[in-house]
Formats: sequence, structure tokens, C-alpha cells
Amino acid sequence: PRVSRSSKNEARRIFVRTFGCQMNRYDSERLVEILGGEHFVVVEDYRRADLIFINTCTVRDKAEQKAFSSLGRLKTLKRNRPELVVALGGCVAQQYGEELLVRWPHLDLVVGTHSISKVPAMLARYEVTGDRQAWVDFSYDFGDEPDGRVQPWKPEVSAYVTIMRGCDNFCTYCIVPMVRGSERSRPSREVIREVESLIECGVREVTLLGQNVNSYGQGASGEVNFAGLLQGVAQVEGLLRIRFTTSHPKDLSPTLMRCFADLPQLCPHIHLPVQSGSDYILHRMNRGYTRDHYLRLVKELRGMREDVAVSSDMIVGFPGETEEDFELSLRLLEEVRFDGLFSFKYSDRPQTGARLLNGKVEEEVKLERLQRLQALQERITLEKNEAQVGQTTLVLVEGPSQIGGSQLSGRTPQNRVVNFKGSPHLVGEEIPILITVA
Ligand code: SAH
Ligand code: SF4
Ligand code: F3S
Repeated sequence: PRVSRSSKNEARRIFVRTFGCQMNRYDSERLVEILGGEHFVVVEDYRRADLIFINTCTVRDKAEQKAFSSLGRLKTLKRNRPELVVALGGCVAQQYGEELLVRWPHLDLVVGTHSISKVPAMLARYEVTGDRQAWVDFSYDFGDEPDGRVQPWKPEVSAYVTIMRGCDNFCTYCIVPMVRGSERSRPSREVIREVESLIECGVREVTLLGQNVNSYGQGASGEVNFAGLLQGVAQVEGLLRIRFTTSHPKDLSPTLMRCFADLPQLCPHIHLPVQSGSDYILHRMNRGYTRDHYLRLVKELRGMREDVAVSSDMIVGFPGETEEDFELSLRLLEEVRFDGLFSFKYSDRPQTGARLLNGKVEEEVKLERLQRLQALQERITLEKNEAQVGQTTLVLVEGPSQIGGSQLSGRTPQNRVVNFKGSPHLVGEEIPILITVA
């Protein structure tokens, strides 16, 4: 089936569904911008689209299943409208590649994690020849994408900027290095140029993205390290706030920690995944630090800036995790008192080291541990939020609140969401708000 295109300038409609982490969100935004140059406009209703792009995640088995059920649901639509182009991108696309075209006859394009910039060429070929294609090599270079950000998808107050791709850490549970390739940093001047162009589009806050931002710039001669990049970005005029994610505890440097004290634009919040409170499990995960080392880091961070918020990721039921190991994770939560926590049941992933480890934990045990962990964290989060009541804090107003009504929503420097009544012209402003209820 070929795409009918009567006139070169006629707008075509794209629908994008994004799963997974911020890096996928960023890639989806870039795709929309790239296709904007090809006369594509975004539609909210997938049934009206000429191109449907599903950007997938495969970090846990459930994420992979979600990707396939999302794809599966398009079967009838494609049968009724053969001219529709169905594309699968992201980490599931990278994981299976061409194989997907065999397994899913209604799928037209498979776009790997390094191939977003290839989509116009893939579409052009599809239109002429009707060839279904998979592009999953790791040949991507940052320079492949258009410079700067011409017209962000939606006018936003806060935007993501990817500063590096891939990961070389090989934590034993993790599939990311296999589907995102080896670590590569984006040249600092490109990052800064992109931040500048976002400011021109009205953005006030940027979040710098990478699987492990602490190792930014390593390996490129003459390049700055991550602290140096932060200093450069902080000089961009008109930028109110800088955030970054994710940091790996094993190489969180003193210089980077000092940025929290030295750079007023840097928000006092760090996402520092700990994964487990047990040294035995941390070792089996190949995380490269101990519980003590982690606790020391948190103390040093708080010494640098006492109001710094710390959030984290935790995995329960990693192979070999005993009740005692798990209790060490619970105790770590009590000790650190995270401001927020994402927690997951361990999930076996293809090509990872942990898949081959013995001591797999039963599903019910994992579930029970997850519930205990989450109940404990919920109490801590609530207590920490309650401690904010009566305080006035600066909120960057992002837009209408999800809770509806005439409420607006924004975030505190520590990344807490605040809902409040106010006039829509406050969007994009940083204003003091009195917290009345947690
Ligand atoms: N690069 C980031 C995030 C990676 S994925 C980092 O290093 O922290 C996000 C989170 O998913 C991880 O921090 C981990 O907690 C979780 N995760 C990754 N693989 C997993 C698996 N196989 N099972 C369960 N959780 C997993
Ligand atoms: Fe996965 Fe570890 Fe890399 Fe994070 S640092 S992406 S958890 S391998
Ligand atoms: Fe998922 Fe890929 Fe991100 S596996 S967490 S979308 S890097």
C-alpha cells in the first residue's frame, strides 16, 4: 500500500504515543519537530492520523507487553485504512528489529533508538516503493538532527534536552545498554545552542537528560565535564531553572555536588537511584557502590545545600534477595527519608546478567515486598509534604492542573507539584505560593 499524497504541501497528520522514560519523550518531541518540516501536524485522535508512531519501552517485561498490546490494537484500523502508516520506535523496536515486520504484518516501519532522524527518508521510500523497513543500526550521531529547536511540539514552560545517549554501566538487571548502545555525549555547544533556542520559544526550565549524566563529556578531548556543562547552561540568559536526571551514585563527584551550592538556577533536587539497601545485592547488581557510600553521598549533598530534595529508584526481589536484604532496603528508606521514590518488582530481561543468576524470588514475595516498601515510602512522602504546610515557596507555573477546575499547577524547586487557583497569565512565571494543605 502506498501513501496517497495529492499535493506536496498538504498537511499530513501524525499521532504519537510515548511509553517509558524522559529520553523517549524527548525523542518523540524531536520526531514531531523533524516531521513538522515535512508538513506533518499532530492530532490527538489516532483514528484521524496518517502516521501512527508508538515510541516504546522495554525496561521491564510489563513495558514490553504494553508496547505490543498498543501495536496490536491498530490491526483493524490498518485493515480498514491501508494507506495508514504504522511505525514502532524506541527500545522494543531496537530490541527486535526486522523480526517485528514478520511478526506484525500491519506494521510498516521499525525505527530504532538511534534512527529518529531517518524517519523522513524511510517515509519517502515507503511512499514510492511500499517497502516496509526496519532501521536499527547504532550509527546515530547527534549532528544528524536539525540544529536548535524551531517549534516545540507544544509551547511549554519546561523542556527536556538530551545531553548524552546510551549507557556503559551494565547493571546486571538492565536492558538499557543493549537497546540504547554505548555512551555518547553531545557536544556542549550543541546543548547550549538548543537551550538558547528553547528560551526563545518561551521555555523557562530545562531538564538535562542522560542515563548517567555524571559521566558526561568523558572520552571527548577538549570537552567539559558535567559540572562544566551545568556552568555553561547556567549562563544562558532568561533560563530560570535547571534540572538534570539521572545521576549514578558511583560517580557523583564533589565538583558536581558543589554546583548545588554555587549555581542559583540549579534546582535543589537530585534523582539518585539506590536500587537496594543491601551490599550483597548491590554487588550482584554491579552497581559499584555500597550502602555506606550511598548514605555518605546523601549526607554530603545535604551539607552542600540543606534544602536539597533526594528521590530514588528501588528494585525489590532481585535474584538472591532474602528477607534480611529486603529489610536493609526498608531501613535505608527510614534513614534517608527520600522525598520521592519509584519502586519496581525485579523483572528478568533478555541479554542481561541477572537473568542467569540463581535465587529467583517468587512473584508473590516480590509483590508483598513492593507493597511494604511503598506503604513505608507513602508515609514518609506524606510526612515530608506535611512539613511544607505553612511555608511559602517559589512555584514555576506550568499550566492548568490535572485536577481541573480553574486550578493551575506548577512545581517547587524541590520538584513537588503544587496546585492552586490563579489566572492563566501566570503560566511561565515563578511566584511565591503559601502551602496550605499536603
Ligand atoms: N539510567 C537510569 C534509569 C534506568 S531505568 C539509572 O541508572 O538509574 C529506570 C529504573 O528502572 C532503574 O533505576 C531501575 O530501578 C528500574 N529497572 C531497570 N531494569 C529493571 C528490571 N529488569 N526490573 C525491575 N526494575 C528495573
Ligand atoms: Fe541501566 Fe545501570 Fe545504565 Fe542505569 S546505569 S541505564 S540502571 S545499566
Ligand atoms: Fe525504557 Fe528505553 Fe527509557 S527501555 S526506560 S524507554 S531507555
